Amino acid sequence: MTSTPTRIELALAPTPVMKLERLSRRLGVELWVKRDDLTGLLESGNKVRKLEFLVGDALAQGADTLITIGTLQSNCCRAVSAVAARLGLRAIVALTGARPDTYDGNLLLCRMLNAEVRYLTDEQFRHAPETLEAISEDVRRAGGTPYVIPESGSNELGALGYLECAVELAEQITHGAPRFDTVVLTCFSGGSQAGLLMGKQLAGLPSEIVGVPIAFPAERVRGYVTETIRKAIHRFGFAIEVPKSIQLLDGFQGIGRAGVDDAELALVIRLAGEEGLMLDPVYTAKAFGGLVQTLERDNKSLGQRVCFIHTGGIFSVFPFRDSLTRLLDA
Ligand SMILES: Cc1ncc(COP(=O)(O)O)c(C=O)c1O
Repeated sequence: MTSTPTRIELALAPTPVMKLERLSRRLGVELWVKRDDLTGLLESGNKVRKLEFLVGDALAQGADTLITIGTLQSNCCRAVSAVAARLGLRAIVALTGARPDTYDGNLLLCRMLNAEVRYLTDEQFRHAPETLEAISEDVRRAGGTPYVIPESGSNELGALGYLECAVELAEQITHGAPRFDTVVLTCFSGGSQAGLLMGKQLAGLPSEIVGVPIAFPAERVRGYVTETIRKAIHRFGFAIEVPKSIQLLDGFQGIGRAGVDDAELALVIRLAGEEGLMLDPVYTAKAFGGLVQTLERDNKSLGQRVCFIHTGGIFSVFPFRDSLTRLLDA
């Protein structure tokens, strides 16, 4: 038996597509950005689209408490906190690390949005399912109804948010947006890429979908993407195939989410000044840097018209204020 997902409207969509004029000239390709950083609910990027389905499911199950897990500066935990506050639900975010003396960036916003923060040891974070179950049990014992959102909102249900993004982009192309040869996006879990690949088949999006892993090795991301699509086909009965090849630009992970180097921060500064577009240092700067390096090496490798999906994350700029100040004043 297949199931029909419940979706609630959260995202401000369709999000615009914009050409990066100066960078396009410099690289000798048409480089565009789909501004999914503008999906709203505190600029919650790709997460809002995923949460349309995940929180839709939570409400359908009668949940009153959203529980999720991530790093101290998790965009997803902040997005869940924002959606919970918007809908009058309770949020519990389980974050790896110790409570800092001063809240900053996404953590500051989580607290202002009235999320309850549980600080996790490395051990508790490594055993995420058990940790989330223990928190769920606390909620149940107190008479609440918990709903667990996996890290980054990444399962076959959350991926449907990016299936819808592909449908939206296909419609934008039908109505006059450029027919992009390639759509490039940042990959952590690969949930967003899985969604786009499903939507490509269902909506007839003509573009190749290329992910840039920013944390895990390419093979692991390929496995996640394939598995997510396979589960979605099984659960929702989509008449699509698991793609034979998942295209990734590999080698741009740096030290992953654990850190950001000066080159990534310099790119954030450069793009802000050159195009008025703010990347986030942890996710989109690594991926966009990989895209630019790929095009600098061979500006025909991704076709003539390339669209980068900006998946958000702006608030994690602020915890890098010291390094950014040093680079700006050097
Ligand atoms: C700003 C931003 N972009 C991209 C991603 C990656 O999305 P996915 O986990 O669907 O690959 C994340 C996820 O954490 C993110 O916060």
